[in-house]
Amino acid sequence: MSSDLTANNLSMPKAVETRDALARPLHDLRISLLDRCNFRCPYCMPETEFHADFEFLKKSQCLTHTEILKVVRVATKLGVSKIRLTGGEPLLDKKLPGLVATLAEIPGIDDLALTTNAMLLAPVAQTLADAGLHRVTISLDSLDERIFKTMSGGRGDLKRVLAGVDAAAHTGLTPVKINVVVQRGVNDHTIVDLLDYFRGSGHIVRLIEFMDVGNRNGWKMDQVVPSKELLTTIQAHWPLRPVDKNYPGEVARRYEYVDGEGEIGFISSVTEPFCGSCSRARLSADGVLYTCLFATHGTDLREPIRNGASDDELTDILSRIWLQRADRYSELRQPDVAEAHALRKIEMYRMGG
Ligand code: GTP
Ligand code: 5AD
Ligand code: SF4
Ligand code: SF4
Repeated sequence: MSSDLTANNLSMPKAVETRDALARPLHDLRISLLDRCNFRCPYCMPETEFHADFEFLKKSQCLTHTEILKVVRVATKLGVSKIRLTGGEPLLDKKLPGLVATLAEIPGIDDLALTTNAMLLAPVAQTLADAGLHRVTISLDSLDERIFKTMSGGRGDLKRVLAGVDAAAHTGLTPVKINVVVQRGVNDHTIVDLLDYFRGSGHIVRLIEFMDVGNRNGWKMDQVVPSKELLTTIQAHWPLRPVDKNYPGEVARRYEYVDGEGEIGFISSVTEPFCGSCSRARLSADGVLYTCLFATHGTDLREPIRNGASDDELTDILSRIWLQRADRYSELRQPDVAEAHALRKIEMYRMGG
């Protein structure tokens, strides 16, 4: 038995590093608090599919905060030190500050972040900061009002989102990161303007390649703008130089403006996959644990929790899932995009970004 596997002695009180079948540790738990969203971004929840009659999860199907906290406590024993709260839109959960406050107290968590579209952020930013949230990542695809509106499914209000960005900065939910999904022919021609706006602000814009998550967003390879191409375009405006990763397994490739005006990042899951260092697990709102963003199935934790599983029993379940994990979808997609795309994948709004 390798020393890595021997280290998975579950009776040890301190966090032990659990490694999967490809020797990747578990560091990052991303928790989807609910499957609903106040936006209908066409690349995530297109209105045609997620219409008024769409059946979202019922409250009774979703994990309670107490149940989520149980999973988190157990996950920290296996090495999780980073929690990201996501959705759907997590700010639709009115009891979020209470959950944040409890999560912030859990020993072993050194990064507690939230992903949001920021429509509802400004009024609650201070409360969340006071509760112990460390930082926010805001999804914002364009500063062109018309394009922004289209990319939020007609539901976004750009001024409110920008007020959310400012509120995050003023309340110390920093560094504020701005996630931009880049789609050819949709918003790619507005990226330079967006970067210009945030240059010098201290906020970190991350340009994300449009991904084939789920099966409902009409993904086509020709709508993906490879990061390399975008980098060349941006360099023509402002020279950039690469910066080392902040931590092993960081998804974004970092660059800084040579003139000192800040940092940007590229998330290039399609053209330059990063599965080799993927240390992320995802917990859906209804309590299913997924070990890949492109998973076709996961493991239900809600049933064992509701049947009274002890922390040790849950630790054992999580540990087994991670030990068996061999996911590397983005790397496998490369040779045969069509075949990979045909899989029946779980939608991203469901398992969390
Ligand atoms: P930091 O903690 O700030 O470094 O960010 P993060 O790595 O947690 O990234 P974030 O949650 O902001 O994710 C940004 C986007 O990257 C997501 O919305 C996804 O589009 C993509 N992404 C994140 N994790 C993965 C992953 O494990 N696989 C793939 N393929 N894409 C991912
Ligand atoms: N491709 C890339 N990123 C996506 N996101 C949602 N759908 C996609 C997609 N198809 C990102 C959003 C948000 C995060 C939750 O996931 O930008 O920042
Ligand atoms: Fe909502 Fe985010 Fe999906 Fe847009 S990308 S529909 S804001 S969950
Ligand atoms: Fe991780 Fe799956 Fe994304 Fe690869 S495709 S980086 S294994 S979540």
